[in-house]
Amino acid sequence: MTETLDIQITETQSSKLSEIDFDNLAFGKTFSDHMFVADYKNGEWTDLRITPYQNLSISPANATLHYAQSIFEGLKAHKNDNGDILIFRPEANAKRLIKSAERMCMPPVPEELFMEAIESLVSLDKDWVPNKPGTSLYIRPFQFADDPFIGVRPSETYKFMVLTGPVGGYYSEPVKVKIEKHFTRAVRGGVGAAKTAGNYAASLYPAKQAQSQGYHQLVWTDGQTHEFIEESGTMNIMFVINDTLITPPTSDSILPGITRESALILAKDWGLNVEERPIKIDEVIEAIEKGSLTEAFGIGTAATVSHIAVIGYEGTDYELPTIETRKTSNRLLDALTGIKMGQIEDKYGWIKKIG
Ligand code: COI
Repeated sequence: MTETLDIQITETQSSKLSEIDFDNLAFGKTFSDHMFVADYKNGEWTDLRITPYQNLSISPANATLHYAQSIFEGLKAHKNDNGDILIFRPEANAKRLIKSAERMCMPPVPEELFMEAIESLVSLDKDWVPNKPGTSLYIRPFQFADDPFIGVRPSETYKFMVLTGPVGGYYSEPVKVKIEKHFTRAVRGGVGAAKTAGNYAASLYPAKQAQSQGYHQLVWTDGQTHEFIEESGTMNIMFVINDTLITPPTSDSILPGITRESALILAKDWGLNVEERPIKIDEVIEAIEKGSLTEAFGIGTAATVSHIAVIGYEGTDYELPTIETRKTSNRLLDALTGIKMGQIEDKYGWIKKIG
């Protein structure tokens, strides 16, 4: 493995950095100067390289285009006041990519390769890491089938790539979500826990319908009964009911979010009541009506902590308490942001520092 970690670097001759308006960063539209690429063939990862960010050339028969054997990760880097780059929990993303790969019948990207790819790329493009509040460098590692073959079987060749780009918030305001009772995101025994492309493709049509009704996102319910809350569009979901932080347990139909897990660790450490357990829609609606539900929020890498302002269910929009009153989610957001920016002690060893 050691000699394969030799990464060939070709630097761009025309940086786009000066063209970027760091005061107006949207999510996912701007990409840094370089990208990382590795090829999997003959049973090993080879030809590790960093090149200028550029288009790929692939066969029209590329297996990913036809059958979506494709997985990805999302993580963020921030710049602290000394100019150091801090990456939040990259090892956890490396491990989750391996889990997704297993489910999608793909060869694992070794953790060492994942880490080296990210560190080398982010270090080369360190000037792209923004430092204004609410901004970060989003890092998108992804792996996909590369065989030019349209028979249905696992590909024999793959690419592992990483691209990065400076981002602002994923949602620009507290979100209005609709509880989905008809469509299903993931089923027991399916691929809901894998971070795989098809899960997101399948969510587009139901989400679009909700968006045409004025919602930002859906809250998915279980595929069997549609009675239990699972997760929200691009994030896990949490509620505070009777001063207890409640979130559905991970399962094979819920993505094991790294921000979700970090929030649970913090909340337990603070001595808050925390319950990971199935939550019925009825319990949520009843708690809103009684006034015992004080907070609802989505939580994820891209979304960070996204307050839910309104929950739509069976034709009624339930307004939730105002953002300023939300003690737990605001505290979680402040703590997670503080740790990521190096302003709060990282006592969990979550930060990977790049000098
Ligand atoms: C992330 O939070 O990093 C994600 O991957 C969600 C994404 C689909 C925007």
